[in-house]
Amino acid sequence: MSTTAPSLPKAQKGIQISRTGGPEVLEFRTDLPLPTPGEDEVLIKNNLSGVNYIDTYFRTGLYPAPKPEVLGREGIGTIVAVGPGANPKNFIVGERVAWLRTAGYAEYSIASTKAQVARVPAELSDEQALAGLLSGLTTLTFVREAYEVKKGDWVLIHAAAGGAGFLMTQLVKLAGGKVIGTAGGKEKCELVKGLGADVVIDYRSEEGRDWVGKVLEVTEGQGVDAVFDSVGKDTWEGSLKVAKRKGTVVFFGNASGPVPPFNIQLLAPKNLKVMRPTLFPYIQTQEEFDHYTEELFGLLKSGQLKAKIHKVYPLEEVAQAHMDLEGRKTTGKLLLKP
Ligand SMILES: NC(=O)c1ccc[n+]([C@@H]2O[C@H](COP(=O)([O-])OP(=O)(O)OC[C@H]3O[C@@H](n4cnc5c(N)ncnc54)[C@H](OP(=O)(O)O)[C@@H]3O)[C@@H](O)[C@H]2O)c1
Repeated sequence: MSTTAPSLPKAQKGIQISRTGGPEVLEFRTDLPLPTPGEDEVLIKNNLSGVNYIDTYFRTGLYPAPKPEVLGREGIGTIVAVGPGANPKNFIVGERVAWLRTAGYAEYSIASTKAQVARVPAELSDEQALAGLLSGLTTLTFVREAYEVKKGDWVLIHAAAGGAGFLMTQLVKLAGGKVIGTAGGKEKCELVKGLGADVVIDYRSEEGRDWVGKVLEVTEGQGVDAVFDSVGKDTWEGSLKVAKRKGTVVFFGNASGPVPPFNIQLLAPKNLKVMRPTLFPYIQTQEEFDHYTEELFGLLKSGQLKAKIHKVYPLEEVAQAHMDLEGRKTTGKLLLKP
């Protein structure tokens, strides 16, 4: 049976792109149709939407998708309609939930009741919960499954002051690992140090440009057990160089551009493992989704994991948010207020 809140508008505000390009293609619209939840789906009125680097890949066309497209992959708000069909968690109109799917840069979004929507503990603010959602699930699943961080491991994290890096640094420390974090500029480095990173390298400074040499020096020539590299094009070669014998390099983003195709023979001298994970295949089943969302919200609630919000931008100012993110001006998470 489907249920709907008494009064819903026919049109809504949102950010749509009709073509790929720079931030100028982000179009603020007030006439987007309100989606109707289908089988197994709910409609959520967003209080906040998350901005992630992946949104820029869809905007530029690095990741292709049909157009017109409403960007955004996560949000938090209130359920305003429940569609027909399965509803394994018994979601009802009026409940506060966080969700992961598509078309988040809008007042209203659709998500599936199956492994896309989670209730949020009352103790967590919308800002905290959303700042930790996609970035937190990514980093939590990666430190468990892409490379399982163990006590005493040396782990290199690039862009450690960013939305994902800020959380990953804390998660590796919580697992008992030793973190070498890279970040651009003094302020970002101080932030990473404050999270408990053992070594911080300003890889944009004159001295830090040789971050490969510095990582090898810190690890007494051995290299690190694992690298989490979301920077891609500018760092991938160095990341392979600083991984120790039998080490793992996890490439998970393209902030500077994608990792180019490379000769697999590069892995042979040290028997390296290379991973290229994405979040969603790790949280595909209801069991996986519940397991990781519950753990994540638990960590945030207890204060063991802290989320940092760079800024909440009004939806209309989404282009500025993209410029700030791509301009390396941000630390922690960017949010939008629809
Ligand atoms: N695979 C997945 O499922 C998944 C999920 C979530 C995120 N990610 C990836 O994780 C990364 C972080 O995402 P995020 O949303 O949290 O972004 P973010 O880390 O807050 O922002 C990107 C950061 O990358 C660094 N960077 C290095 N070279 C850059 C360049 N040429 N241009 C722009 N930035 C550059 C900058 O930090 P410095 O100034 O310190 O260098 C910048 O702040 C992205 O690569 C994203 O694609 C992947």
